[in-house]
Amino acid sequence: MAPGRPQSLVSKAALSILFAGFLSTPFFLLREIFFPKGQQPFDERRVPTYFPTAMHTNTTTLPFGPDAPWLAPLAGYSDLPFRTLCRQYGAACAVTEMVSVKGLVYGGFGTERLLLTAGPDTPLVVQLFGAEPEIYERAMPLLLERGFTHFDLNAGCSVRKVNKSGSGSALMSRPALLLKIVETMVKAAGPGRVGVKMRLGFTPGEENFLDLGRALEDLGAGWLTLHPRTAKQLFGGQARWEAIGELAQAVGVPVLASGDLFTAEDAARCLSVSGCAGVMFARGALTDPMIFQRLKDVLAGRESAPRTAESLAEAALTHIRLCQELDPTPRAFRALRAFLPRYAKGFTGIRALRQALITCRNWDELTAMAAHIAHLAADAAPIDHADMLQDCGA
Ligand SMILES: Cc1cc2nc3c(=O)[nH]c(=O)nc-3n(C[C@H](O)[C@H](O)[C@H](O)COP(=O)(O)O)c2cc1C
Repeated sequence: MAPGRPQSLVSKAALSILFAGFLSTPFFLLREIFFPKGQQPFDERRVPTYFPTAMHTNTTTLPFGPDAPWLAPLAGYSDLPFRTLCRQYGAACAVTEMVSVKGLVYGGFGTERLLLTAGPDTPLVVQLFGAEPEIYERAMPLLLERGFTHFDLNAGCSVRKVNKSGSGSALMSRPALLLKIVETMVKAAGPGRVGVKMRLGFTPGEENFLDLGRALEDLGAGWLTLHPRTAKQLFGGQARWEAIGELAQAVGVPVLASGDLFTAEDAARCLSVSGCAGVMFARGALTDPMIFQRLKDVLAGRESAPRTAESLAEAALTHIRLCQELDPTPRAFRALRAFLPRYAKGFTGIRALRQALITCRNWDELTAMAAHIAHLAADAAPIDHADMLQDCGA
């Protein structure tokens, strides 16, 4: 009987495969009948493609200059498709969404998604947040191994959840800890490879950005970004662009400006007021990804193309296509569906568009709906950028 055993095992396995095939066939047939090609719902198995060694060229030096605008770190927004879109419209460099160093060290699908990148997504800066130097010590080699070359420390984010853990702008109130973290990062990545995004200080009475700036330069930081408000101010009042100029005078490394840069003209004024090395567009890019090219036009004395419904529809359609190519996951689809109404800001019918977008179930429907942006009429009311702050918890 013994020699017959393997044979019966083989036939059992073959029967199981046939049975499984028989069971799954009706599902495939039903799927084809109800969701013809192009209309099929998401394939959950298409998880984001991770490109571990995609950062290969042109990353030894970062671009700094008035006509080399950056895309700011934007949690929930500055993902691979949006970065790629902004680069197509002239962003010279882009920063990832903030990445938790703890998430990196202890693993997690969410963190992997934030590090999604591709060949043309360069130069790229990975923004990190966390408050424990030991964790940075462990996180940095993981990032360097994967080919990332430039890093930014988030010392500017005032979201309660981030500050509660001592991270983000809370680091401004513990300068020794902030410096220790940067020292750790520079030790791993090398001098010039680490930047710090700061605020003026934690509270109005403790504005330490100048002292910190000098100390960070001494530690080997390659650039500094200043959002000139205190952490306590969140996004209230006006960004004090003059303070960016004070920092630019105090240090020898490039200083980038962030804060209230909603149009290309704002950025040109900020550059002229502060004399800083360059600007970072944040909320301005969310309503107008063409803002990068506009700044280049303004600085060159060229008339910049108007922000028309047609050009915004084109940007929205390109964004959808890039998302389909680079991150075609259900999560990315839902995020983009909620993002698209931003392109219609300043036009009438945005509420109806938002409602219609939310009912879109697949890429074809989303594409058809986004095309409607081209037909919206301009609204006389100015764009309110404050409502974007709910998204970052401020
Ligand atoms: C939705 C949203 C998400 C943000 N996420 C981050 C972030 O991940 N890291 C960071 O340093 N700053 C973050 N910021 C701050 C921006 O990078 C920028 O410094 C700030 O919005 C000021 O620029 P603006 O007034 O031109 O928008 C975020 C801001 C917004 C509105």
